Amino acid sequence: MQPFAWLSCPEPRLAEALAYLAQQPGKQLRSTLALTCAELIAGQPVPAAQSLGEAIELLHTYSLVHDDLPAMDDDDLRRGQPTLHRAFDEATAILAGDGLQAAAFEHITAIESLSAEQRLEIIRLLSIAVGFNGMVGGQALDLAAEHQAVDVASLRRIHQLKTGALIAAAAETGAICGGASASERSQLVQFAKAIGLAFQVMDDVLDVTGDSLALGKTAGKDARAEKSTYVSTLGLSGARAEANALLDEALSALSVFGEAAEPLRQLAEKMVHRER
Ligand code: IPE
Ligand code: IPE
Ligand code: MG
Ligand code: MG
Ligand code: MG
Repeated sequence: MQPFAWLSCPEPRLAEALAYLAQQPGKQLRSTLALTCAELIAGQPVPAAQSLGEAIELLHTYSLVHDDLPAMDDDDLRRGQPTLHRAFDEATAILAGDGLQAAAFEHITAIESLSAEQRLEIIRLLSIAVGFNGMVGGQALDLAAEHQAVDVASLRRIHQLKTGALIAAAAETGAICGGASASERSQLVQFAKAIGLAFQVMDDVLDVTGDSLALGKTAGKDARAEKSTYVSTLGLSGARAEANALLDEALSALSVFGEAAEPLRQLAEKMVHRER
């Protein structure tokens, strides 16, 4: 998957920043999730889901570039390299994020093998997922919860919004590419909501247990910034237990798909039991 291959920009420094992001693509779990859901529903690989996955990776990458900015998490390291605002400058990082978000939606409008209705529905779901009632709202709540004692219900909401919403939308829009029925869609959303939350719970755990080299980002950052996390609220073993319970919940939502969901089960395991 080459989510940046077609991007261009007339300003050389911003173009260079895009090339910088392109050579550190990340784990690409969200696009893999979209592709895997599409294939589960269609019973064969779905080319449209490839382009959808590229668009989702652009949205995700934009969210990371902005998440790392000094006004947000103020991080120096991302995907094993200096964050974009460190390698370039803040204005370049802000503009790169803005442009990546727009490029993602443009990319979806151009998926010719999907009907206009499908494209519109995918854009609708993704724009909700990354908007005020999704990722952006969750990021704002995350920042507001710094230096606070937050209960598990509030934390769950923050994590569902800032991270879970895009992961759930990746599964649902992937399912749409595969031609899913309404009930197949809702089953996969139920699965992906649980796995999306588990993913952020494990991100909180890895921030404590991982090292910067393996993670490709600064370990121990959450405690230093006094972030409200599953580990600060439930402790390490409590957070791990929650992630495992969510994985079980996710897997049980897949039982209706039988054997065909095996690749999705393996992906779910990988998203929770990971080292980075
Ligand atoms: C990191 O996501 C940000 C979170 C929402 C936890 P990933 O762990 O998927 O980051 P990359 O894309 O592999 O760098
Ligand atoms: C990020 O959560 C969620 C996003 C929407 C980007 P974190 O702030 O915990 O992600 P990392 O740990 O910096 O990757
Ligand atoms: Mg953050
Ligand atoms: Mg961060
Ligand atoms: Mg984190």
